[in-house]
Amino acid sequence: MSETTQATAEAAANIAFIKYWGARDLEQAVPQNPSISMTLRRCSTRCAVELLPGEPGDDEILLAVGDGPPAPAPAAFAVRVQAHLDRLRGIAGRRGRFRVATRNSFPAAAGLASSASGFAALTLAVVECLDLHPDTAELSVLARRSGSGSAARSVLGGYVEWPAGEGEEKCYAKELLPAAAWDLRDVIAVVEREAKKVSSLEGHRRAATSPYYGTRQAELPRRLEAVRRAIRERDLSALGPVIEEEAIDLHLIAMSSRPPILYWKPATLAVLEAVRDLREEGIEAYSTMDAGANVHVITLPEREETVAARLAELEGVGEVIRDGVGPGPRVEAGLSL
Ligand code: PMV
Repeated sequence: MSETTQATAEAAANIAFIKYWGARDLEQAVPQNPSISMTLRRCSTRCAVELLPGEPGDDEILLAVGDGPPAPAPAAFAVRVQAHLDRLRGIAGRRGRFRVATRNSFPAAAGLASSASGFAALTLAVVECLDLHPDTAELSVLARRSGSGSAARSVLGGYVEWPAGEGEEKCYAKELLPAAAWDLRDVIAVVEREAKKVSSLEGHRRAATSPYYGTRQAELPRRLEAVRRAIRERDLSALGPVIEEEAIDLHLIAMSSRPPILYWKPATLAVLEAVRDLREEGIEAYSTMDAGANVHVITLPEREETVAARLAELEGVGEVIRDGVGPGPRVEAGLSL
């Protein structure tokens, strides 16, 4: 290795309309069922990566919290990053040591898909440093192999489907509709900033222990088709009820897994009820949640302000993040966290 290579990538989180929950191969994140998501704009991760002369064993993995300086990352996160660095370095057949620094624009590990944006950004920056030049499908596969399946969707912008795949190598996400084609907003009620107690990895592992998992699988083809169609036709009234049903179903599976997983907090329920009240008042908004207590409220641009104001009034809602569909990741030369 002759020279130092540097790259910075920024990738946004995504909110799943149809959820990845349960895997055929958990280690490589090959899902049991297809999922569909909307890539966000504001909730994002920046990842600055440097490939330096040296030995792979000397990789440095840093995490910056808020506006603070990068500091050594917590062990659980560093272990996953390290495994991904080794994997990508192996694919490229390269040596050298990495210095990786990551910064999230939003609360990490709180059901806001920080692993999706984090591993998408990491994958993008590292392949750039390794001179790998994958196409989007290959990138999605590489991001997925980090073990964070939803990262496979965050390498794309707009509305994205990730099929369950015919085989591991063909299991990658595809764009359904570009962001510019439909301006949906996601108003996020943050009711919990702490890391969740049960990781989504553990949730996938337990999913099939729920007696209702089979029913979920039987329901999914209908839901998937309804969501694809609603996106194609840009029809929020058709999309909304299906994504609400799907989010409740994900939590039903989690709550009935053995042992059960309870992600909700009292304020989660308060937000779900407030969204129903808004609809009764004629304000179209629909809720969904990933594996966490926070609630994403999907609405149209002209309703965003009203929705955000209402959610901010609720007891137990600490912060309201106004996000929306985003164009996908970008990569820059050099280091800028
Ligand atoms: O990508 P993972 O392994 O963190 O799993 C994501 C799980 C959900 O966020 C609950 C659903 C999804 O499809 O994003």
